Amino acid sequence: MILQSVHDLRHLVLIISLGGMFVYDPKVLKEMHEALSPGNEWANDASMIIVVFSKKEDDCVIRDREYYLFDTGMATGSLILRATELGLVAHPIAGYSPKKIREILGISDDHNVVTLVIVGKHSEKISPILSDKQAEAENKRPERIPLDKFVYINMYEEV
Ligand SMILES: Cc1cc2nc3c(=O)[nH]c(=O)nc-3n(C[C@H](O)[C@H](O)[C@H](O)COP(=O)(O)O)c2cc1C
Repeated sequence: MILQSVHDLRHLVLIISLGGMFVYDPKVLKEMHEALSPGNEWANDASMIIVVFSKKEDDCVIRDREYYLFDTGMATGSLILRATELGLVAHPIAGYSPKKIREILGISDDHNVVTLVIVGKHSEKISPILSDKQAEAENKRPERIPLDKFVYINMYEEV
């Protein structure tokens, strides 16, 4: 299943031409667990971690607009949608040390490790590794900022 999904998801990274590394070797995953921030121990159960990394030179820079950030977001969003379509859970996190991740995986310093997408299967049971707060959050979606606070019609308005 993991190999099949790697084959499938890989194309999305290639299309948008940034760095995506699919890690499912248990030995490498174990090393990566050391780079996760406290509170992300749940990720130790995942069978794959997708490392999303990119650098400024990957796309055009127009004055202060760095388009590699746009590409990275597009690719990651597509990856998550496709993984979900394949019946997997794909959970992006920012709680890790990019320095340690680069060291473990041999990624050069000029790359930003933008996110790790933790990939696994749905479980009926709530993992005992979760804190009470995390376990409670599993059963309800986080509150969303109302659309009218960040979507504007015709003109920007300070809210
Ligand atoms: C910038 C950013 C960083 C995040 N980092 C973490 C993280 O380190 N660990 C974690 O469990 N969730 C993290 N999350 C939350 C999840 O990605 C996800 O948004 C959350 O579980 C809610 O899921 P939902 O948006 O599908 O409802 C982060 C979200 C954002 C936007």
